[in-house]
Amino acid sequence: MDYRRYIAEKINVDGVSADEVASLLNVPPDPAMGDYALPCFRFAKALRKSPALIAQELAAAIPADEVIAQVTALNGYLNFRLNRAGLAKDVLSRILCEGERYGTSDVGGGRVVCIDYSSVNIAKPFHIGHLSTTVIGGALYRIFNFLGYRAVGINHLGDYGTQFGKLIAAYKKWGSREEVEKGGIHAINDLYVRFNNEADEQMEHEAREYFRLIESGDKEANELFDWFKSLTLAYVQTIYDRLHITFDSYAGERFYTDKMAPVVEELRQKGLLKESEGAQIVDLEPYGMPPALILRSDGASLYLTRDLAAAIYRHDTYHFYKCLYVVAYQQNLHFKQLFKVLELMGREWAKDMVHVAYGMVSLEDGAMSTRKGKVVWLEDVLSRCVEKARAVLEEKSPDLENKDEVAELVGVGAVAFGALCNNKIKDITFSYDRALNFDGETSVYLQYTCARAASVLAKAKAEGIAAGEAPDVQPCEAEAELVKQLAAFPDAVVQAAEKYEPSLVSRCLLDIAKQFNKFYLECKIMQAEGDVRAFRLALTRAALTALKNGLTLLGIGVPEKM
Ligand code: ARG
Repeated sequence: MDYRRYIAEKINVDGVSADEVASLLNVPPDPAMGDYALPCFRFAKALRKSPALIAQELAAAIPADEVIAQVTALNGYLNFRLNRAGLAKDVLSRILCEGERYGTSDVGGGRVVCIDYSSVNIAKPFHIGHLSTTVIGGALYRIFNFLGYRAVGINHLGDYGTQFGKLIAAYKKWGSREEVEKGGIHAINDLYVRFNNEADEQMEHEAREYFRLIESGDKEANELFDWFKSLTLAYVQTIYDRLHITFDSYAGERFYTDKMAPVVEELRQKGLLKESEGAQIVDLEPYGMPPALILRSDGASLYLTRDLAAAIYRHDTYHFYKCLYVVAYQQNLHFKQLFKVLELMGREWAKDMVHVAYGMVSLEDGAMSTRKGKVVWLEDVLSRCVEKARAVLEEKSPDLENKDEVAELVGVGAVAFGALCNNKIKDITFSYDRALNFDGETSVYLQYTCARAASVLAKAKAEGIAAGEAPDVQPCEAEAELVKQLAAFPDAVVQAAEKYEPSLVSRCLLDIAKQFNKFYLECKIMQAEGDVRAFRLALTRAALTALKNGLTLLGIGVPEKM
């Protein structure tokens, strides 16, 4: 049941809709105040009364019923206390009945949400800078699907540009098939770095020539290019597998090669294109932005040109409700320009495009040695974190059987959670030790809480005690609080989608876990008897269900035991 709605419908204030009231209802920080509170300050002007008086009058007009146990007025706030037993029964039966589906809904109604994320660059390192786009995008992808939208995951590959000419030139001069086959992406990257360090005029010329050959469809140049591309994709796939990331489309920049001319033509016809120092631009000065560069003076297209073609293609192909770009805030201007140009072209759907910007991730021990010098490869961060997780497990759970598998879930989860637990726009500094702290606001804390709940349930099962339906029991404070945290999960998922903010799910899970552990310590589950024990077991199962569903949305694995 949606308690906010239920309460809102009981409140009559002239000229204020139930929706508005529902959005004003908040959860007081101190549970002693009540389960929900309605600030009455907003109504004072319209009703020409003091908020305190409004709260008093409203309180007197709302009778207690099977959901609302008590309504009190305090300092301009209307405080609601819900019927704990009723709430517990309602929430638990819903979670236990829905299981893996708890938190889903059909708010999406099948509407399509395109999500452009990860979008790696072929033949370039997959580095720590790609962590956030990959895991935030992946989480949004699952969250939207969970809510009944149809998410389309797009990896807008960076597979266009002169760097491929350079790469081929370097390969021809210094590379060999065996070496690249053996070294994969790392060998390719070495060649590229070497070109940038050592290439002379002659090689630069060759590079331009090879790029031209790729563009003109030359067989050998394209074979080499395809080979580099497939090596890169095979490599990034190993990382996507570890992070539980999937895509529906790998249409990258190159895919739009033949789709840009019509866009440029349309710009020209609509009188938007201007010549400036030989280049073709769209003047955005009236909107306070630098010009959007569409074609260079040599006729070459740009990143923005390909994004224009891609946006139009996505709209025409998927008829999206929203089109999201999970890309670092460094590209703010790029997306503002992109959306503006589309708007000027008369594409009314430009308003449905969203740049989901996020902050920077840096490593605490910046001195970490990587195979590649300055660039921190994501793969190395994952391996290092898994290694550290293995050591922590050795210490905390020496008897654990499958330590390697658990260390993989814990270590990889910790890296992902690093980019998922804070407001995404914040710059963060990742610390292995902090991320692997069993008692911190970490994924390992969540995983450990799941393992703890699972072990209680396993113990009950071993003793032949069923953790079935929740019997009618008057919950104590800790139990009632846990029920409330669990009840908040579906709304957290909806909010995460609405605000493009997976950290709202993370925060909700941390709240649930904290409250579960409080309950676990205060209420002896297995030492209780009869209905009380049955109720506590049901609560334990419900908590495990909500935590698992949330972690799955975030792409974080849950070990059975820890
Ligand atoms: N490959 C680009 C980069 O690494 C990100 C692409 C983002 N997506 C887009 N449609 N522009 O910076």
